[in-house]
Order: sequence, then C-alpha cells, then structure tokens
Amino acid sequence: MDTRLIKVEDTAAIRDEELAGAAQILRNGGLVAFPTETVYGLGANALDETAARKIYAAKGRPSDNPLIAHISCMEELAPLVSEIPEAGRRLAEAYWPGPLTMVFRKSAIVPYGTTGGLDTVAVRMPSDPVANRLIRLSGVPIAAPSANTSGRPSPTTAQHVWEDMNGKIEMIVDGGPVGIGVESTIVDVSGTIPTLLRPGAVTVEMLEATVGHIEIDPAIQGPSGEDFHPKAPGMKYRHYAPKAELTLVEGEIDSVVARINLLVEEKNAQKCRVGVICTDETKSRYHGALVRSVGLREKEETIAHNLFAVLREFDELQADVIYSESFPEDHLGQAIMNRLTKAAGYHVIRV
Ligand code: TXA
Ligand code: MG
Repeated sequence: MDTRLIKVEDTAAIRDEELAGAAQILRNGGLVAFPTETVYGLGANALDETAARKIYAAKGRPSDNPLIAHISCMEELAPLVSEIPEAGRRLAEAYWPGPLTMVFRKSAIVPYGTTGGLDTVAVRMPSDPVANRLIRLSGVPIAAPSANTSGRPSPTTAQHVWEDMNGKIEMIVDGGPVGIGVESTIVDVSGTIPTLLRPGAVTVEMLEATVGHIEIDPAIQGPSGEDFHPKAPGMKYRHYAPKAELTLVEGEIDSVVARINLLVEEKNAQKCRVGVICTDETKSRYHGALVRSVGLREKEETIAHNLFAVLREFDELQADVIYSESFPEDHLGQAIMNRLTKAAGYHVIRV
C-alpha cells in the first residue's frame, strides 16, 4: 500500500479541504495517522469492527488490548456509553478537550472489536486542532491507539509514524511535533470510585481537585508478583521500549552520575555501544558514551516532550545498552517515570 503524507500548513488556521481526504478514508474504513496533543494516533472508525481490526494488524498489537474512541465534542459522548456518572461529567467539564481519557460502561453500538471484548469503552476528546477537526469532519468516533509499532516508543512526530507505518496505512497527517509527548491520563469512572489506570499530563492532584479522592491501580507501579492484572490491559506489555537494554539509575544525582560513569566504563570494556539518558544540567558530566539530554530537570514538561524521541534515537544509533537518570515522581514526573520504568522492563538500580 502507498502511504500518503500530507502536511497541515498552519494548524491555527486549518481549512476543511486540507483534511477532507483524510476524513473520507476514515469514513470508508481506512487508516489515517494524525497528531494529537499527547502523541500521534492511528485512527479508524471506532464503530466499524473491520476497520478496528486493521489497526491491530498495522501495529502488530495483541487484540485483547482495547482502543480509545476519540470524539470532538460533548454531544458525541452519550451515544457511546450506557451512562455518564457524575465524576465523568465533572472531569469532562474540567479537562476536556485535553489529555484525559475516561473509561465508561459501553453502549451497544460500540463493537467488542474496539474494546478488546470489554463491556467498557475508553473515550477521549483531544484538544489538538488537527485531531479535533479531523474527527468532526469524519462524522464518526475515531478509535486511535498511539501510531507506533506495538512495543516501540510512541511517536511524537510524523517522521516517527512514517518509520513504523509506511506502507501499512492509507495516510499520515503531519501537524508538526506534538506538545505534551506522553500519552493521556486514563481514569476509570465506571465504578464507584474513579481509578487512575495510566498517569499522564492531567495529574493525580488535578483529578482530586475535581472529584476528591481517587484510587490508583497498583499495576501502575509495575508487576508485583504473578497476579499482575492491570485494569488497562495495555499496561501489561513491555512498551515504549527501545531496542537496547535500558536500566534506570535512581538516587541522589551526584551518586547517580558517578554510578552511570562506572557502568559505562564496564560496558565499554565489553565492547558494547553504550547510551546515557540525562538532562541539560548533567550532560557534560558523562564520558565515553552516546550521551543524550531529554530536557531540563527543572522543567519536567521538557522531559515528557523529548523522552520518546530520545528512546527512538538510540534505536537509530544502535545502542546495545542504555543507562538513564531517573526523575522525581511528582506531577508530570509520575507519567515520565511510569513510561521510563516500563521501557526499562522495571530494571532499576538504586544508589
Ligand atoms: O494519548 C493517548 O491516549 C493516545 C492518543 C493517540 O490519543 N492514545 C493511546 O492509545 O495512548 P493506546 O492504545 O496506545 O493506549 C490505550 C490504553 C491501553 O493501555 C489500553 O489498554 C487502555 O488504554 N484502555 C483502552 N480501553 C480501555 C478500557 N475499556 N478499559 C481499560 N483500559 C482501556
Ligand atoms: Mg500505545
């Protein structure tokens, strides 16, 4: 299949004509990748089981891993869900459109092919103007996982999508690099107490400011034994992962730098290509490795923004092993550390 790449020239002044072809493909059951404020998504008609199946094939994704249905306005929620609980209504008012996904009990029109066989459906209303306009023009809810090959880091530029999806999907809409860089927060509002299933840019503090106490799915912290059954099925797969073996080094920053430099020396002696993930503040303190900064320790949004691109860059550089600094788990740091520890297969050295 030939994959068409189209570019939206000015995302602040999109013309419907620019996205008409993409919307047509989606209505006809095809696949279109598009930008959102979190990561690029791989879209298909969420109400068309055959179209949803194509997403799983293009990504190489296990079919028990459900898709998020994306909508463009509040009126599009009711038809997809059997009820809108009070917490869901309040969170939608506070954070939609934006980087928040909510899990509701599904209505009959949402096929099990979209929900991975579950009786619930995850719904998100993105704020990105390209995403929002494309969903509205297509006239159907759009199922969209991150537009990466399953297991690879999520794409934050159209170029990343091209690397993974060229030849497998009809179209990629390039709207430039995304803003946030890590996937949306997922909250299950289908039970009595809202439960966080995946941390993201809408933080625990922000959620609790709106609906009071929330539960946190223990699976977010990683596997805790044999009965590891995250409520978001996708959280159980090794994910976001570079090809190299990644290890996180956690502790006070001077000790972390010293330990990573030692590990680099050891691995160099074994003739490995070694990578280091650090920050602008510490970059000059590493030696003898491929050193990449993810941003400013002081500004965690810069780290979220660059993280997946840096993981992908190490694939290109063909690193064998990567050592990464770790980051405080407050606010957005929770999402950053969740993705990093998953990418590392929960391999953490504490110093
Ligand atoms: O930011 C995002 O959410 C991006 C953009 C494209 O919107 N999408 C995204 O989709 O990250 P994906 O498929 O890569 O991750 C969706 C996650 C998976 O972990 C999946 O298991 C979970 O959402 N999920 C989907 N439906 C669910 C449901 N009904 N119950 C629990 N978890 C669900
Ligand atoms: Mg994903």
